[in-house]
Amino acid sequence: TYVVTESCIRCKYTDCVDVCPVDCFREGPNFLVIDPEECIDCTLCVAECPVEAIYAEDDVPADQHQFIALNAELSRQWKPIVERKDALPDASEWAKVKDKLGELQR
Ligand code: SF4
Ligand code: F3S
Repeated sequence: TYVVTESCIRCKYTDCVDVCPVDCFREGPNFLVIDPEECIDCTLCVAECPVEAIYAEDDVPADQHQFIALNAELSRQWKPIVERKDALPDASEWAKVKDKLGELQR
């Protein structure tokens, strides 16, 4: 499965959503996750993300491993998003910020 990691937080560009053939993105207030039960590993979303937030599960950087479980957990709580929408305000500013997990809104 593929996993959305930290750089998406407070950016939420949503370019990834438009290319997913199985609509497996789920939307929270300031972050998206991928439902690991639905993702078919097509890889299409990876190149779409302007902040390179999406990784294959096996390639998630060591300091982001908690996002694997977080995508699984939040995908059970959040609703599908199937169309691209505007990024969050200040997305370009937040794109440069590291260690944003504390900013995650559920
Ligand atoms: Fe969707 Fe493919 Fe990305 Fe999985 S890898 S989330 S199926 S676009
Ligand atoms: Fe997030 Fe990148 Fe998609 S910022 S919403 S994973 S395009």
